Amino acid sequence: MNQKVFSQRLLEWYAVHKRDLPWRNTRNPYFIWLSEIILQQTRVAQGLPYFEKFAANYPNVQALAQAPEEDVMRLWQGLGYYSRARNLHACAKEIFENRESKFPETYTELLQLKGVGSYTAAAIASFAFGEAVAVVDGNVFRVLSRVFGLTAVSNSSKGKKLFEEFANKIIPLENPADFNQAIMEFGALQCTPKNPECNTCPISEACFAYQKGMVESLPIKSKKIKVKERYFQYAHILCGEYTVIKQRGGGDIWQGLFDFPLEELQLKEALQLESQFFADQDNYRTLNVIKNPYVFKHVLTHQKIFANFVKFVIEESEKPKLSAWVKNKGYQMVDQTQLESVAKPRLILKYLNDEK
Ligand code: ADE
Repeated sequence: MNQKVFSQRLLEWYAVHKRDLPWRNTRNPYFIWLSEIILQQTRVAQGLPYFEKFAANYPNVQALAQAPEEDVMRLWQGLGYYSRARNLHACAKEIFENRESKFPETYTELLQLKGVGSYTAAAIASFAFGEAVAVVDGNVFRVLSRVFGLTAVSNSSKGKKLFEEFANKIIPLENPADFNQAIMEFGALQCTPKNPECNTCPISEACFAYQKGMVESLPIKSKKIKVKERYFQYAHILCGEYTVIKQRGGGDIWQGLFDFPLEELQLKEALQLESQFFADQDNYRTLNVIKNPYVFKHVLTHQKIFANFVKFVIEESEKPKLSAWVKNKGYQMVDQTQLESVAKPRLILKYLNDEK
């Protein structure tokens, strides 16, 4: 398909179908950056309330930079992939401290910011500053691959580069921002991964995939990355109004978030049968041991977590002894309010909600 005709049809389609989203009515790089970091993590419908919360709590980069990290993590809670939230905060601090709260204004400079890769840099550079640099996300891969018959493997770094080069060749210089929004929106609403709306598509008559009957097979993706399974046995220990929690360290998932004492098991079948706390439990007068009947399944990008929780209700008089054990293990004992206020992985939130 002719590239000029493509962008013309795309922009016409966008003018009719575009959703009214708050980050589309601004050229403020802070709000654009914020929305793009959130949208890397989730779909528009789920991301919207997070964007609104962040924008209301932190109306500018300085406000975000000066917020305590726990507050930022807490607001992010539920979105998952917490290193993004930490990078978001670090980036805000860097802009506040070293750049007089001003975002860089070019793609190349934006790339230097923490947590800002080629996609986000292109989004900010084009939406806020009108630079003709193409955004290439999953939607864009799909649209370009189908319309122009690009067969590079889209989830390899070489393939990604080829798609980026192609997109940068066809992006119009007059209105790059609208072109970028339009192609993403077209991928999200019309040229969807499954059951795309080819019948009402203004491009289908010249679409490579449609004409060749290849809509289902494009874009080409290499085999899925192997997902590792992990088995977590949690001990949910209560003593009066206190709960034992532990802050997660680095080098693993959920860095800096709070969960419970945990034993990682080698076998799924061992869930509910073992726990590091079982061994210590006899030291305490225990009112109740409740084995949660469910194995919670929690899917992350490269890991599938199977988790089970056993609740131990320890007599209140045992608190001093338990406190010593908690301290020794590097855990913490928190009351209900503190438990609610610390940032927790979504899995823990799910469990606590189920418990209520
Ligand atoms: N997904 C990622 N960025 C987006 C944007 N700016 N608008 C809609 N969906 C998006």
